[in-house]
Amino acid sequence: MEAVGSLAGGIAHDFNNMLSVILNYTDFALDDLPMSDPLRNHLLQVKTAVHHATLLTHKLLAFSRKQTIQPVPLNLSRIAEEIGPILLRVLGEDIQIVQRLAPDLGLIRAEPGQMEQVLMNLAINARDAMPKGGCLTIETTLVNVDEKTAARRVYMHPGFYIVLSVTDTGCGMDKKTRDRIFEPLFTTKGIGKGTGLGLSTVAGIVKQCGGDIRVFSKPGLGTAFKIYLPRHLATAAAQLITPR
Ligand SMILES: Nc1ncnc2c1ncn2[C@@H]1O[C@H](COP(=O)(O)OP(=O)(O)O)[C@@H](O)[C@H]1O
Ligand SMILES: [Mg+2]
Repeated sequence: MEAVGSLAGGIAHDFNNMLSVILNYTDFALDDLPMSDPLRNHLLQVKTAVHHATLLTHKLLAFSRKQTIQPVPLNLSRIAEEIGPILLRVLGEDIQIVQRLAPDLGLIRAEPGQMEQVLMNLAINARDAMPKGGCLTIETTLVNVDEKTAARRVYMHPGFYIVLSVTDTGCGMDKKTRDRIFEPLFTTKGIGKGTGLGLSTVAGIVKQCGGDIRVFSKPGLGTAFKIYLPRHLATAAAQLITPR
């Protein structure tokens, strides 16, 4: 939806510019024509149509603004806690969910709906990897990334990160699969089962938040995703304003 929103916004903007050009030239033509010229009526019709088209672009622009994501300071543990009951239902009774959510790690800056999507996509993948049941562990911790570690990771700066770990006891992955999982449309699931968009969406969201995602997995030994999200600096102040 976001992509559609920004696309609509971009097109509406360019389209609006072209409409102004049409309007200007129509006005020039009207100025040059004598009042009695029958062509004037045609040109006035063009002006009315341009006017309607402009209103339409305004609607598109409003839509795109509504679609733009609004990152806010938020407590990731609380988001994970709130989505717990939904995950329980999605995963079914053969999968046990263990939550180790530290309540006071500080805040990240993200859009709540996007964080829910991250958790949901990872949980659904875990479910698919555990067709005979198993255990899904969701954990939040605080990590201080030092200069040396940050230098090794493209998207990381030194400082505090809130780390979300999602670990399953499922089928795991070999290196060949692991290397491709964040590619859009990459899936090992059958037609109608996988879209290959889950993890590329997750990676996109994490990148937008200035974070990083890492995966640890071996065939038969399960999978762990670790998502590093920079801790929001104005944590204490923001916590007072935003209860989430
Ligand atoms: N928890 C997991 N355990 C094992 N394999 C996984 C896991 N998560 C993702 N994968 C692999 O990564 C691929 C891509 O995942 P994703 O982008 O969510 O697409 P999809 O789930 O539609 O296939 C999956 O097809 C699967 O091979
Ligand atoms: Mg998926």
